[in-house]
Amino acid sequence: MIDKIKDITAQVEASIIANKQQLEDFRLAFLSKKGLISSLFEDFKTVANDQKKALGAEINRLKQLAEAKFEELQSKLEVASADEADPLLDLSLPPIPHQTGTRHPLSIIRNRIEEIFTRIGFTIAEGPEIEDDWHNFSALNFPENHPAREMQDTFFVMRDPDIALRTHTSSVQVRVMEKQKPPIRLLSPGRVYRNEAITARAHCFFHQIEGLYINEKVSVVDLKQTLLYFAKEMFGKDAKIRMRPSFFPFTEPSVEVDVSCEICKGKGCNVCKHSGWVEIMGAGMVDPSVLENCNIDSKKYTGFAFGMGVERITMLKYNIKDLRLFSENDVRFLRQFHTLS
Ligand code: PHE
Repeated sequence: MIDKIKDITAQVEASIIANKQQLEDFRLAFLSKKGLISSLFEDFKTVANDQKKALGAEINRLKQLAEAKFEELQSKLEVASADEADPLLDLSLPPIPHQTGTRHPLSIIRNRIEEIFTRIGFTIAEGPEIEDDWHNFSALNFPENHPAREMQDTFFVMRDPDIALRTHTSSVQVRVMEKQKPPIRLLSPGRVYRNEAITARAHCFFHQIEGLYINEKVSVVDLKQTLLYFAKEMFGKDAKIRMRPSFFPFTEPSVEVDVSCEICKGKGCNVCKHSGWVEIMGAGMVDPSVLENCNIDSKKYTGFAFGMGVERITMLKYNIKDLRLFSENDVRFLRQFHTLS
């Protein structure tokens, strides 16, 4: 038996293991249940008692030798295969530079508009995008079944005519008026939704910033001066504004506001369609019945409101011709807007 142990020891020492298959062959030959070392333990049972101590020690030494060889080669092969897995790994190469994002052009313009108005005391108010009929329409003097509701093609939620995606952020102004006492001076920016076909000039969602000022003795003069201040801050100190009569259910009188064309300085160009003026927002004096709907005394208080599309102002500022670019997420477009001159 001692010869057999020596023979197997020699085989273990002589085994060459260079890959996973050979490692497995080694395990099967020597270490598995049916392997040579197990067979030695079988033979051991028949050995005379006085030889057991010496032989047992020899077999154990052989077993430890085979196990140590197996483990050492197994970990060597694992390291080698990790290197093999990525033959292109070259730790000396310089890293791929980290790409820093840029602000979305709509955020740049929204921030700018907010900054212009907060400087003269307006505060920012936000509200839900899913609205009820009262806050989006009824409180704002849109009678039921009135054609004015069709000016704002509405998305209703789950066929419930009472719940809709807000069509304008005037709904936020109603929410604030219901809770706060005048004076109120707020700006409500946010996303709004209208059921329109998507083209270069219209989209099913866009962003608005609406403003509201309610106090004693607020007049059209305050509205005009506020908007002239905004136009000069946004479009340059030479900017002029003009107001044209219009209609909104919640303001009386209602106007549309134009700013003098910054691009051609009033001479006429494509952007202003050769008129020298571009429309930038709707505005007006808050209809007294809207104030009453929100429990504000319309004999004591008056107010003005205005609302503009952030996309429209952004398109004018950066000379962007297609509204769809804002939501397509093409970084070649988005990376162009770093600063605002
Ligand atoms: N809410 C109007 C719209 O979405 C804009 C507006 C606001 C007009 C305030 C007048 C006064 O079309």
